[in-house]
Amino acid sequence: MYKHLLAKLLIAIVGLYGIADYSYAGDELNCVLCHKFRGLSRIDKSGKFRLFYINQELFDSGPHRRNKCKDCHTDINKIPHDPAKKVDCTQQCHMLEPSSQQKFSHKLVAKILKKSVHSPIDKDGKPKKYQQDYPGCKDCHDQPFYRPFSIYKGELKAGVSKRGITRCRSCHTKGYFAEDFYEHVTTRLRKSRSPLETINACAKCHQDKGFQQRHNLDDVVTTYKHTFHGELIQLGSERTPDCLDCHVVEGENIHLIEAQTVPTSAVYKTNVQATCRTEECHSKASAQLASFKTHVTYDRKKYPMEFYMLIGFKALMAIVLYFFLALIFMELLRRLFPGFSFFKKKNKD
Ligand code: HEC
Ligand code: HEC
Ligand code: HEC
Ligand code: HEC
Ligand code: HEC
Ligand code: HEC
Repeated sequence: MYKHLLAKLLIAIVGLYGIADYSYAGDELNCVLCHKFRGLSRIDKSGKFRLFYINQELFDSGPHRRNKCKDCHTDINKIPHDPAKKVDCTQQCHMLEPSSQQKFSHKLVAKILKKSVHSPIDKDGKPKKYQQDYPGCKDCHDQPFYRPFSIYKGELKAGVSKRGITRCRSCHTKGYFAEDFYEHVTTRLRKSRSPLETINACAKCHQDKGFQQRHNLDDVVTTYKHTFHGELIQLGSERTPDCLDCHVVEGENIHLIEAQTVPTSAVYKTNVQATCRTEECHSKASAQLASFKTHVTYDRKKYPMEFYMLIGFKALMAIVLYFFLALIFMELLRRLFPGFSFFKKKNKD
C-alpha cells in the first residue's frame, strides 16, 4: 500500500517540476511531462532493465512526431498506468491520409507482408513451424529518422536546403509547414538506410546458425559478404546491391520478398536476368552475367563446380608455397654451411 502512495507522491513531484519548462506542442496529453526524465526506469520482475525515458529531440526528428502518444499507446488511460500492452503498428491513428482522406494506418504494409515469404502463415492459412522466427514490424524497424537532403546546385548534401525551403516559403508561409513537408518528401527520394544497416537488419535472423538449421537455409549473409558486391559495401560503397536490390522485384513494395521457388520472385531462375538489368545496375546484363552466384557455400552437392575449383586452388597454392619454401630452405643451408653436403664427397687427393 505505502509503495503505491510513494509512487503517487513521486509522480506528483516529478509532474510539478516538469511543468516549469514544458513546451511540447503535439503532446496534448502531457505524457512528456513525466517521460522526459532520463532516470525514468525500473528493473522488472524478470530482472530486465526498462527505460521509460522519451528523448523529445529524437522523437521530433522522426516521421511519427505528429502522432499523439495515445495514437500508439491506446491503453494508457490513467496515472499511475497499468502495465502497457505492446504497440500494434497497424492500428489507425488520428491523421487523415491526404490523397484518400481516409484515417491513416500501416495496414497495407501488413497485407503485403502477409503475401511474402516472411508471413508466419502459409498458403492454406495454417501457422508455419517456428512462429517466433518470423519478423514483425519491430524486428526490422526501430523509430526511423528523417534523413533529408539538399541538391540545390547539383551537389548532393545531407540536411535541409535553405534555398529549397525559401522556394516553398513564397507560398506556404505559416509555421513549420514548408520544413515539415520538405523533410517528408526528400527523405523518401532515396533509401532510408545505408546498405550496411540493411544487411545488419537481415543478418539478425539469417546469420544465426540455429535459425539456418531450423529453416534449412544457407548462411546467405557471410557468402554475400565474400562477393565483390558485398566487399565493396563493407568498404562504404552505396552503389553495389544489398539484399533488397536483388530480392525485391523492381517497382514492387519492399516488403514483398519471396522464396526463390516462387515464379514471381526476383531471384526465380528465369527472373534473375531482369533483376540484374535495372537502369542503375547492369542495364545490358547477359544471361551469363546473370548466372553469377551470390550465395556460394562450396557445398559439394549444391555447388560441385565451385567445390572442386576451391580444392584445385588450394592444392595449387600449397604446391607453389611448399616448392618455394623448399627452395629457400636449401638456399639457406648452402649459405649457413657452405661446405655441407648430403652426399660424401670423394677426396680427389
Ligand atoms: C505523471 C507522470 C506521467 C504521465 C503524465 C505519463 N506517464 Fe507514462 N509512466 C510514468 C511512470 C512513472 C512510468 C513507469 C511506471 C512503472 O514503473 O511501471 C510510466 C510508464 C509508462 C509506460 C510503460 C508501461 C509498462 O508497464 O509497460 C508507457 C507505455 C507509458 N508510460 C506511456 C505514457 C503515455 C502514452 C502517456 C500520456 C498519455 C503517459 N505515459 C503519461 C509516468 C507518467
Ligand atoms: C508511432 C507509434 C508511437 C508513438 C507515437 C509513441 N510511441 Fe511509445 N512506443 C512505441 C513502440 C512501438 C514502443 C516499443 C514497445 C512496444 O512495442 O510496445 C514504445 C515504447 C514506449 C515506452 C517504453 C515502454 C516499455 O515497455 O519499455 C514508453 C514509456 C513510451 N513508448 C512512451 C511514449 C510517449 C510518452 C509518447 C509520446 C511522446 C510515445 N511513446 C509515442 C510506439 C509509439
Ligand atoms: C523483413 C523486414 C521488414 C519487416 C518485417 C517490415 N519491414 Fe517495413 N521496411 C523494411 C525495409 C528494408 C524497408 C525499406 C527502408 C529503406 O529504404 O531502407 C521498409 C520500409 C517501410 C516503410 C516505408 C518507410 C519510408 O518512409 O520510406 C514503412 C512505412 C514500413 N516499412 C512499415 C512497416 C510495417 C508497418 C511493418 C509491419 C506490418 C513492417 N514495415 C515490417 C523491412 C521490413
Ligand atoms: C507557387 C506556390 C507554391 C509553392 C512554391 C509551393 N507550394 Fe505547396 N501548395 C501550394 C498550393 C496552392 C497547394 C494546394 C494545391 C492543391 O490542393 O492542388 C499546395 C499544396 C501542398 C501540399 C499538400 C497539402 C495538403 O494537405 O493537401 C504540400 C505537402 C505542399 N504543398 C508542400 C510544398 C513544399 C514542401 C514546397 C517546397 C518544396 C511547396 N509546397 C511549394 C502552393 C505552393
Ligand atoms: C525475424 C527474422 C527475420 C528477419 C529479420 C529477416 N528474415 Fe528473411 N526469413 C525469415 C524466415 C523465418 C524465413 C523462412 C520463411 C519460410 O521458409 O517460410 C525467411 C526467408 C527469407 C527468404 C526466402 C528464402 C528462400 O526460401 O528462397 C529471403 C529471400 C529472405 N528471407 C530475405 C530477407 C531479407 C532481405 C531480410 C532483411 C530485409 C530478411 N530476410 C530479414 C526470417 C527473417
Ligand atoms: C546480387 C544479388 C543478390 C544479393 C545482393 C543477395 N542475394 Fe540472396 N539470392 C540471390 C539469388 C540469385 C538467389 C537464388 C539462388 C542462389 O543463387 O543462391 C538468392 C537466394 C537467397 C536465399 C535462399 C537461400 C537458400 O538457402 O535457399 C536467401 C535466404 C537470401 N538469398 C537472402 C539474402 C540476404 C539476407 C541478402 C543480404 C545479406 C542477400 N540475399 C543478398 C541474389 C542475391
